[in-house]
Amino acid sequence: MAGVRLSPYLLESNRKIFGILLLLASLLLSGCFYNDDPPPTSATGKQMYTEYCASCHKANGLGKFLMGIPANAAHRLSRAEVIKLIREGDPRYPRMPVFPQIKFSQADKIAHYLTELKEQQ
Ligand code: HEC
Repeated sequence: MAGVRLSPYLLESNRKIFGILLLLASLLLSGCFYNDDPPPTSATGKQMYTEYCASCHKANGLGKFLMGIPANAAHRLSRAEVIKLIREGDPRYPRMPVFPQIKFSQADKIAHYLTELKEQQ
C-alpha cells in the first residue's frame, strides 16, 4: 500500500485542528456562565434577568435547545415555584444553578419579567 503515510505537515495541521475542536467543545460544554454577585436593590426584573438568566436562557427566554437549556419563558410553574427555583433550586431542575443572593422580592420581579417575555412570544 503506497501513499497512505501522513506527511509531517498533515500531522501538524491535524493537531492544530484537533486543538481548536477541543477548545470549541469545552466552550460549548461550559457554554454559559452565571453570576453570583448580589443585584443592586434598585435593579428591575429585566436588568436582573439579563444579568443572571440570559447567559443561558437567552434574552428572549427561548433557551438553547442544543445545550439542553429549556425556554424558561415557556415554563408552567407558579410564580412562587419560580421564586423558589431561583433562590433555593428545585429537585426537578437539578441542572439549574441557584441564586441565594437574590432576595425574595427581587426573584419575584424576575418571575414577573418572565411572564412579560412569555407574552412577547
Ligand atoms: C448556567 C445556566 C443557567 C442559568 C444562568 C439559569 N438557568 Fe434556568 N435552567 C437552566 C437549565 C439547564 C434548566 C433545566 C434544568 C433541568 O432540567 O435540570 C433550567 C430551567 C429553568 C426553568 C424551568 C423551565 C421549564 O421548562 O419548566 C426556569 C423557569 C428557569 N430555568 C428560570 C431561570 C431564571 C429566572 C434564571 C435567572 C435567575 C435562570 N433560570 C438562570 C440553566 C440556567
